[in-house]
Formats: sequence, C-alpha cells, structure tokens
Amino acid sequence: MVILVTGANGQLGNEMRIIAKGSADKYIFTDVVDASEESIAMLKKLVGDDINTETEHLDITNLDAIREVVMREKVEAIVNCAAWTNVDAAEDPGKNDLVELLNAKAPENLAIAMKELNGLLVHISTDYVFGGDPYNTPCKEGQKGTPTGVYGQTKLRGEENIQKSGVNYIILRTAWLYSEFGKNFVKTMLNLTSTRPQLKVVFDQVGTPTYAYDLAQIIYDIVENRKYVGNTGIYHFSNEGVCSWYDFTKMIAEYSGQTGCDIRPCHSEEFPSPVKRPSYSVLDKTKVKQTFGLTIPYWTDSLRKCISNLLN
Ligand SMILES: NC(=O)c1ccc[n+]([C@@H]2O[C@H](COP(=O)([O-])OP(=O)(O)OC[C@H]3O[C@@H](n4cnc5c(N)ncnc54)[C@H](OP(=O)(O)O)[C@@H]3O)[C@@H](O)[C@H]2O)c1
Repeated sequence: MVILVTGANGQLGNEMRIIAKGSADKYIFTDVVDASEESIAMLKKLVGDDINTETEHLDITNLDAIREVVMREKVEAIVNCAAWTNVDAAEDPGKNDLVELLNAKAPENLAIAMKELNGLLVHISTDYVFGGDPYNTPCKEGQKGTPTGVYGQTKLRGEENIQKSGVNYIILRTAWLYSEFGKNFVKTMLNLTSTRPQLKVVFDQVGTPTYAYDLAQIIYDIVENRKYVGNTGIYHFSNEGVCSWYDFTKMIAEYSGQTGCDIRPCHSEEFPSPVKRPSYSVLDKTKVKQTFGLTIPYWTDSLRKCISNLLN
C-alpha cells in the first residue's frame, strides 16, 4: 500500500514517522516546511538514525499539486495531519480566510483527490467542533456540532466537506494533543514549572490529554490492517480519563521531578482568551473502542512516557 502523510513535520505527523518505521508499506511524508533540526534530533534519539526524516513539499490548499503526487505515486490512503492549529490566532480577522482554506477547503481537496483514485482519507478533527452547549456528559459522534470560534467552525466545515465528497473516510476527532515535537502544553509547562516559583492554572476546564503517539498508533492500525473496510465514518479518540488543565500541570511537574514550583488552581476568567473554551470537553470513545477492538492507555501512563522521552 502507498500512504501519503500530510503535515508530516507537526506533532502527529512526526509520531506517524515513528510508528511507520519498519512498515512494509510505502509512506510518503509531506509538508510545506522541512523537518526542523530539533525534530530530526528527537526522531533519531527515539528510534535511531535510520528513521525517515525526508519531506516532500506539498501544500494541501493546492488541489492540482495533490492530484499530481497521488497519481504519480499511486497513493491509496492519505493521512491528513496538516491543519491550522493555533486556536487563538484563528480569530484574527486577517487570518480568517487562510484558516478556512486550510481547515475546510484543503480537506475537501484531499477528499476529491482520493475519491478519484477510490482511496481512503484519514482526517483529524477536534473537540472544538463542540463547545457551544453546556455539556456535562462525554460528547458522542452523532451529536450536533456547536463550535464557538473560527478554529472549531472551520474544522467542522472540513468534516462536512469530506462527508459530502463521497470519498471513503475515517474522521478522528481528538483533543488536548501533545507529543515530543513542536509546541504544546506539556513542553510549555515543563519549562514554566522549572523556571517559576509559582504558577496559576485553570481548574474549571476539563477534558482529556492525548499523546499524539497513541493516536498515530491507532491510525496505523486502522490503515495497515485494513480495519477501515466496512467501518468508515466519524470516531472520537483521546486517552482514557478526565482532568483539568490544573491536574494536567500537577502531573507534568510530578513526572518531571519539578517539586519547586507552587502550582495553584484558578478560574478561566483570570486568563481571558479570544475564544471561549468549553468547561467540559470530554469525548466519548465507546464507538472507536468497540469498532476497532482498542484498549486505550490512561492519560497519566502516556504522559509519563512522553516526559521520559523528552527528559532522558
Ligand atoms: N494540537 C492540538 O491540541 C489538537 C487538538 C485536537 C485536534 N487537533 C488536530 O490534530 C491534527 C494534528 O495536529 P498537530 O498538533 O499535530 O498539528 P501541528 O503540530 O500544528 O502540525 C500541522 C502541520 O501542518 C503543516 N501545514 C500548515 N499549512 C499547511 C499546508 N498548506 N499544507 C500542508 N501542510 C501544512 C504545518 O506547518 P507549519 O508549522 O509551517 O504551519 C505543520 O507542520 C490537526 O488536524 C488538528 O486540528 C489538534
């Protein structure tokens, strides 16, 4: 099988590089930028010098460019890890068109190209497609989307465009993604808890952290083992469990041995942001577990592994 990964130099894309190492299938890793020196060093540290760090340039907002590579390489599946992921910056009116192009139109481009070859599109979406209602139970796949900001609205339109295209698709909605790569909450908090004597973190927003490696592993399982056959549709995936950003930070500090920082809970109103974040944003994973026979790691177990990789 020939599998093309977009946004290969982001958090999830890099974890796909790790997971796909040693696969008998052909993986083509694409992005708009080359892999950073930092990411290449981390990849080599984690899985050895023979890891594939190459990047073929592909801008997924360009349908002709997508068509050219998928036809040339006879691509059978695309794993779309590319997106506009800066939630606050997406609210900048000057950026709105770009966010729409990348999060809504580009997934449609990928769907069109894969439909033409009767291939599969695996697309990643987000818990931000919800948020407008005061939920207090985990969100299910069939629940109506209620995005509150530009990021969530454009990600929801991306999902809808894929569904309308008629392509074979798996859409995986995830949340609170972190990894050894790029910028993320875990890396930020490792830095802050080691440099500040005191830190306030919100305790009135709860959700579930997701280790991008665990997400990459289930994508790999679904694609490599052809588990998508007869099972196309939308699924929710995060690690197991629920916590607040405050609890998340406490565990980051504990696992990294940063006992010198006094971490205190605070309310969201102390940190105003351009986008209203849901107070309860937990994804119900029953469908993904039952359909694909998964056992999903508990969030602290995965967090411990990621921190160990970052610090050792
Ligand atoms: N991060 C989270 O907390 C989170 C939570 C829920 C869902 N998700 C979803 O999970 C997926 C993966 O997220 P992530 O955190 O791994 O993203 P990420 O680290 O921001 O990586 C995205 C990659 O896509 C690249 N890209 C940007 N524009 C592109 C274009 N036009 N064509 C091709 N590639 C382009 C980016 O390059 P540049 O760096 O140069 O822009 C970057 O390398 C996304 O769909 C995201 O919406 C993320």
